[in-house]
Amino acid sequence: MKILVTGGAGYIGSHTVRKLKQAGHEIVIFDNLSSGHKDAIKGFSLAVGDLTDKSALEKVFAENNFDAVVHFAGSIEAGESMTDPKRFFDNNLVNSLNLLEAMLAHDVKKIVFSSSAAVYGESEKMPVEEIDPKDPTNVYGLTKLMFEQVLDAYDAAYGLKSVALRYFNAAGADPSGEIGADHKHKTHLITLILLAALGKRDAIKIFGTDYPTPDGTGIRDYVHVSDLADAHVLALDYLKKNNRSDKFNLGNEKGNSVREVIERAKKITGIDFKVIEEGRREGDPAKLVASSQKAKDILGWRPQFDTIDQILETAWTWHKNHPDGFEK
Ligand code: UFG
Repeated sequence: MKILVTGGAGYIGSHTVRKLKQAGHEIVIFDNLSSGHKDAIKGFSLAVGDLTDKSALEKVFAENNFDAVVHFAGSIEAGESMTDPKRFFDNNLVNSLNLLEAMLAHDVKKIVFSSSAAVYGESEKMPVEEIDPKDPTNVYGLTKLMFEQVLDAYDAAYGLKSVALRYFNAAGADPSGEIGADHKHKTHLITLILLAALGKRDAIKIFGTDYPTPDGTGIRDYVHVSDLADAHVLALDYLKKNNRSDKFNLGNEKGNSVREVIERAKKITGIDFKVIEEGRREGDPAKLVASSQKAKDILGWRPQFDTIDQILETAWTWHKNHPDGFEK
């Protein structure tokens, strides 16, 4: 298939375009490079553009005969969504509507959408299943949930078929060591731990040691970015074969606490970096673990890097070889 990938120069996007190419798809990336990196997508066709720019969208759709869209572009920092909600509603909702408008104008009726475990908020039931209540605790999660609902309405009214993939905690890096996480605003636990190991940060802070978990620290479901990338290939196959919309959790169905991740990282790096215990970070649930049974049963998804050690090892290879990220 010929596929437009918005945000394809970003972290999950750049890993996904590699997998799509390996699966034989033809890719055009649409990215404004505000947070993505050209070096992450060497050899790929890139249209530099912004989803606010309807004429740029019109141009890329007019010049290519796309079969489907994979939509990553958007704002991702959950904390910032509470202080700057406008940016999140603009980027994740309004700009995404521009994309759908261009798709419908060119009769492109298949989309894979980057959603998030943030749609669930503080779920009481673990592991979380797709049908469980959705009650986001931040605007970021709210925009992801709202756009899922937009997609449902566009299916009912216009026959636009979508697969929403709800990522849990994306981590790790392509095993080649060539690409990995390089976010402008670094908030993710595994990146911050490895930067502390490299001496790029003084210490890693544990946000909260009084959670109702076995060791008192927060538990998350870390899932490898290359496994997430595989799921997009499968989602496109699913849309092509079934022409039906659906939503899937993507996680490893295992929980690791902050302390466990730090201990494993010390083992894998061989470096004893400094750890500081702090109070809780606002809005953080105690525990978030996925059921991914549905993705396994229906998409045939089989995660290949399903241990925290494999995730840390690949991330470590990336950060060690690129201590300052891309373009340095
Ligand atoms: N944490 C620390 N110290 C840090 C950073 C994080 O202790 O310096 C803890 C957090 O409190 C949490 C865990 O490590 O318990 C993971 O935190 P991350 O910031 O890495 O990830 P989150 O679980 O907060 O959020 C991630 C994505 C969101 C997405 C969410 C979905 O960053 O975009 O997963 O589950 F919405």
